[in-house]
Amino acid sequence: MKKKLLSMILATAMVASVLTGCGGNSGSSGSTAASADASDSASGTEESADTAADSAAETGDAAADTAAGGGKVGVAMPTKDLQRWNQDGSNMQAELEAAGYEVDLQYAANDIATQVSQIENMINSGCQLLVIASIDGDSLGTVLEQAKEKNIPVIAYDRLIMNSDAVSYYATFDNYMVGTKQGEYIRDQLDLDNAAGPFNIELVTGDPGDNNARYFFGGAMDVLQPYIDAGKLVVKSGQTDFETVATANWSTETAQSRMDAIISANYADGTKLDAVLCSNDSTALGVENSLEANYTGDWPIITGQDCDIANVKNMIAGKQSMSIFKDTRTLASKVVEMVDAIMKGGEAPVNDTETYDNGKGVVPSYLCEPVFADVNNYKELLVDSGYYSESDLQ
Ligand code: BGC
Repeated sequence: MKKKLLSMILATAMVASVLTGCGGNSGSSGSTAASADASDSASGTEESADTAADSAAETGDAAADTAAGGGKVGVAMPTKDLQRWNQDGSNMQAELEAAGYEVDLQYAANDIATQVSQIENMINSGCQLLVIASIDGDSLGTVLEQAKEKNIPVIAYDRLIMNSDAVSYYATFDNYMVGTKQGEYIRDQLDLDNAAGPFNIELVTGDPGDNNARYFFGGAMDVLQPYIDAGKLVVKSGQTDFETVATANWSTETAQSRMDAIISANYADGTKLDAVLCSNDSTALGVENSLEANYTGDWPIITGQDCDIANVKNMIAGKQSMSIFKDTRTLASKVVEMVDAIMKGGEAPVNDTETYDNGKGVVPSYLCEPVFADVNNYKELLVDSGYYSESDLQ
């Protein structure tokens, strides 16, 4: 029965991979429900998402689980504050359970110590494999030593875990490609190869402790830097290096107040701002809030990532130009496939064994392909695919 379910998931996954360039899409409807959860969790209260099955496993028979093809999987997510992690967590839980696994799903309120102790508990309560989306890629080395001692494989989810030799695999969307797509979008919309310019741009990226942020920013700047060097793009604030344009915790409020300062110093006199590179949607939202309050010129091109509901609404309203769509169902399906292969004693599927060196060596990775959504294709990508319903976006 479990096998049947899993092969159904994998079959759907193969169909979806044709559409998305990655490992799958279970068709889980969890994303819509999770979106509602996400807005509910704005208070920042994070709760254990343990299932009833979880406590049964603690008192029950792990050996019998394994013999039946199941087992217990710990899933550590960073925060409920961002919509996407709610979707990632609930999609993965649903798919792992459908494949016959018990799931210990935890959110850590973006607090590193909380995440470390959650992982410790997972190790000590019989989890046989860990899937971890880290808060700070550099802070899990010590706790993961314990996982290694117990031969518990670790899959780094979305964000690479740095400087640890306990990481078996990495599953993510191609982070560098996320950045290049954002840069190319700005290049194409401003027609940088033909238009006279110069155009004013500002840069906003993510948390410096998140390894992904450097890939997003690096990918975008590999496209944009030549135009900055040629004087066709001008960063009036002068803020261009990664540390300066980084946004701690990817916080909307931090991005907003930085943008407030940039506008009052550089654009309050009516100078036109043509584009803002934002590495993701939470930072884009901060920039959009700031522009709404402080900027009177023509609205700039603004990039984003995740297709969060608030940002898709802004896209429809003309306040955000694009967002990278990383279908969390796709990544969850791929990770379930990886978990299943490892739990059955095999090797997980990978498609990149070169790019992601975590300081202890290259971590074999599966990279899913991101696509961009804008006002022209969001219906097809987000609504027709069942990711959101029409009413989610109203
Ligand atoms: C993820 C993005 C997300 C950001 C903030 C990154 O690691 O790849 O999708 O927007 O974290 O949570």
